Amino acid sequence: TTSLPGLEALVADLGLGPVPYFATADVLNDPLDIYHSYLAEDFGRLVESDLDLVYKAIQPPNTIQDGDLDIVLPRLKLSGGSPKQLAAELLKQIRPHTLFGFPFQDGIHIRFFFSPKIIPRLLLPYINDRNPTYGTAKCHALREGPDPGPKKVLVEFSSPNIAQDFTSAHLRSTVLGAFVANMYDSMGWDVIRINYLGDWGKHLGLLGLGWQKYGSTQKDDDRTNLFRYIHDLYNRMEEELRPEQEARKNARDAKEDTAVFETQGLLAERDATFKRMEDGEPDALALWKRLRDITVEYYIETYKRLNIKFDEYSGESEVSLNPTAVVDVETILRSKGILEEQDGAWVIDYDKHGAKLGTGSVRSRNGSTTYLLRDIATVFDRLKRHAFDKMIYVVCEQDVHFRQVIKAVELMGYSDVADKLEHVTFANANRRTSHLGDAQLLGDIIDQREDFMREVMNAGPDDYRIEGGDAAAKAMGVSSLVVQELRSKKGHNNNHDLSHLSLEGESGPELLRCYARLCSAIAATGVNLAPEEIPHIDYTPLWAPPWCDLLRLMVRYPGVVKSTFNTMASTTILAYLFQIMEEITSCLDEADEDESGGEGSSVGSKYAARAVLYESVRQILESGMKLLGITPLKR
Ligand code: ARG
Repeated sequence: TTSLPGLEALVADLGLGPVPYFATADVLNDPLDIYHSYLAEDFGRLVESDLDLVYKAIQPPNTIQDGDLDIVLPRLKLSGGSPKQLAAELLKQIRPHTLFGFPFQDGIHIRFFFSPKIIPRLLLPYINDRNPTYGTAKCHALREGPDPGPKKVLVEFSSPNIAQDFTSAHLRSTVLGAFVANMYDSMGWDVIRINYLGDWGKHLGLLGLGWQKYGSTQKDDDRTNLFRYIHDLYNRMEEELRPEQEARKNARDAKEDTAVFETQGLLAERDATFKRMEDGEPDALALWKRLRDITVEYYIETYKRLNIKFDEYSGESEVSLNPTAVVDVETILRSKGILEEQDGAWVIDYDKHGAKLGTGSVRSRNGSTTYLLRDIATVFDRLKRHAFDKMIYVVCEQDVHFRQVIKAVELMGYSDVADKLEHVTFANANRRTSHLGDAQLLGDIIDQREDFMREVMNAGPDDYRIEGGDAAAKAMGVSSLVVQELRSKKGHNNNHDLSHLSLEGESGPELLRCYARLCSAIAATGVNLAPEEIPHIDYTPLWAPPWCDLLRLMVRYPGVVKSTFNTMASTTILAYLFQIMEEITSCLDEADEDESGGEGSSVGSKYAARAVLYESVRQILESGMKLLGITPLKR
């Protein structure tokens, strides 16, 4: 059924005519659109309205308790009575349809439930043909003309700073960014995942200085320890720097001369070390590269634990080490009269250019590039290298900064490029309070979760003792972290205090547990059908609740993925997966009861139908979890 002829054969088998054509229906990727198309055609004939208008007047109700499809009367713009009256009248004229049960009126709505006898015969072969592509936009649509090929999106996320803490802001960006990238992937985009490291600036000067001063006592082959060493070294240097920074601040507050701090002491040494990197002195650059390599190697390994792989570890150093990239940007800005001098620094005064964004510094007084200039130059550098259709920054807060970046690109005369840039932002109320506890490295944050899960699994109720030992604890830890991040609405606070962490209900470990239970149930049926048998087995055992309700929910999966893609609200797909979890749990409970109730031979006839259903739900759960960034385990 992944092609139109295949689908036509399936519906013909159900006694239906060819699927009516609607331009906006995506019948090869979304089974709900099949139902939608038949209903629109049937009802359109009755009211003699424009069919596309009728199609648009039909929608799935928000909650599945209200039905599967719903005609919203006012949208039909019919004359001859109030929408309510019309609904009542039309209801009497609707003839029975193979796909639907009897409709009913609910105010201005006419609501339909799918006929439970048909859903399994339509849906289960449909899902089985698509398997992992069910819910993606990967079956070929009916579009005319040549295929333009996939569009390219750059998703930039995580982006920690070398030697500094991995904060809760970085964690959210990591989990949400991976999710955004996966969503684009599933919608058929060509996705490039970029980590934009904070690998340039005075903090690198300070770290380099520390390395020169204390050297490395670590063996090079222990990468994690080496990374931890430079992190600790940096903290130590910051500690040493603090008295000077305070003295300088006091001097500044007292309006005293601060020049002395620029010529002697650690501050001056730090700046000089960074200056040597900026000037491209070979030994300074070699040291910088060493520190960067240690960082990248650590992160490659550590992100793996979260199922994340970046295509590119770029960073702020990239345009900094390629002076023409920044000079080109400045030249354009200057020629357009956008750059101006202020106290020896070069700035953009956005207020003068129709954007209430204050001033943004582009080059500081000592001639160094700024964070803003580096980001602007990076846009053009990436455009040159990737020719992207879209670029998304998944970064916590920093709203003004990204508006400044995008506005600058526009002011330079590239509004077409500016239109391709998007900042996915979210609040991070935790920035000041450290709910990550003592963990300062990404690896420590993950370790903490895993240890926690190990403890729960060893000490908790028997239910949590999942087979698979350490692999299970690892998967459970990561899933708990990921779901916790994705559950909170984009603007909401997030609490990482483990003492409040609940495992029951809507959590990552609960999804994994449900998945594992389902896999055992599949194995227990002992059924192994060939694909061509699937449309023809006896599905009678699935006609009643909870089975038919689960099937109705499964029809919605592609629609849920699509609407999640449109809003990037991870809560939408999570809520859906938890609903699936609830329904499949009811089904498995009922199946277990059958088993112990000893209904004998009648149980046997149910196995085949259930086995096909289980496998399709398993596929949906697996695909959904993978979008979130969780790898399901069979046991
Ligand atoms: N490294 C920055 C930080 O830790 C985040 C970078 C965000 N991305 C960007 N293109 N500016 O705050």
